[in-house]
Amino acid sequence: MQTQSTGAGRFAQFDLSRVPSPCFVVDEVALRHNLEILQAVSKASGAEILLALKAFSMWSLAPLVRAYLSGTCASGLWEAQLAQSHYGGQLTSYAPAFKASEFDEIASLSDHIVFNSAAQVARFEAQAQQAGASVGLRINPEHSEGEVEKYDPCAAGSRLGQPISQIVELPASVTGLHMHTLCEQGFAPLARTIEAIEPFLHAHKDQLKWLNLGGGHLITRPDYDRDGLVHLLTRLREDLDVQIYLELGTSVAFDAGILVGEVLDVAQNQGPIAIVDISATCHMPDVLEAPYRPALLGEPTSGGQPVVLGGPSCLAGDVIGTYAFDAVPQAGDRMAFLDQAHYSMVKTSTFNGIALPSIAIWNSDSDALRLVKQFDYGDFETRLS
Ligand SMILES: Cc1ncc(COP(=O)(O)O)c(C=O)c1O
Repeated sequence: MQTQSTGAGRFAQFDLSRVPSPCFVVDEVALRHNLEILQAVSKASGAEILLALKAFSMWSLAPLVRAYLSGTCASGLWEAQLAQSHYGGQLTSYAPAFKASEFDEIASLSDHIVFNSAAQVARFEAQAQQAGASVGLRINPEHSEGEVEKYDPCAAGSRLGQPISQIVELPASVTGLHMHTLCEQGFAPLARTIEAIEPFLHAHKDQLKWLNLGGGHLITRPDYDRDGLVHLLTRLREDLDVQIYLELGTSVAFDAGILVGEVLDVAQNQGPIAIVDISATCHMPDVLEAPYRPALLGEPTSGGQPVVLGGPSCLAGDVIGTYAFDAVPQAGDRMAFLDQAHYSMVKTSTFNGIALPSIAIWNSDSDALRLVKQFDYGDFETRLS
């Protein structure tokens, strides 16, 4: 996969020595800018937009998010509890399978419960209805638009969603359908997916009150066809007579945060290798999982000295990538990776006892900086026993 970041933006002016290292720094002005775009799409189309907490659950910024979006979506009990404690608004909960021991509590917190299979609907529909939650089913449109199989919920043999070819009748309790099939994509893949499943949607429209089109829509990237999206969402809402929902993660926090780190040492093996205090496996696991190469703040666009940047863990593959530098960095130098607010902060671990990055909020208009979280040995110790 490739980073979708459009560049450093105002982070080019941020003095990296102002925060402890490592540290996530989120620009609340950039976040607000994304939220304004999403609110405009919501108003123009009549669709409701939820924040997918799995991508970005920095709750110190929940009041800002709530000022613009209708609520959140959770992947399980803890995210649902976080939604209730910090975000408010509507809550949609979806999991590939719910646990019986947690279900009543999740249902009591949720407005919509989305089941992954007809079997899960049959198992939990009565409890969901009793808790006052609207019952939904995730469908697998069986229309692939994903470039990478690991990120394609429509890939052959996928466990995510009930394949539409298996559905003749929807369970009577179902009043909403959910699909999530895209990953950091533009409007055209969504339009093609809707075209592929519209006959199915029309066949079941009398039973439906809502349709949730999931996430993966990179609406806040400047080149996204927002007019096309508004037109499609409006048409679907009117034709099917349903409330449309989007549940967005990346798009909310896109290009709104960086991860600042520091060079610890520079070794040589077939060229310079800088060991930094940012670990791919502990702090940016998508670098290894996706995999992808995150953009580096200030990297020259041509020329420069190639330097391998690697993390401080024992893992031989804890390598972030090879980056160009005007001069080989020295121990103590700062650097930052772009577009790290989503799917990095939520995925960190303390493997090797490596410290979790601090979290800071920067306001790029006023230049005000607030350090909202620092971790210490106690955070490491309390996760183990
Ligand atoms: C069911 C579901 N909804 C929403 C999202 C959010 O997607 P994104 O962050 O790409 O917008 C995801 C991401 O994996 C998801 O699995």
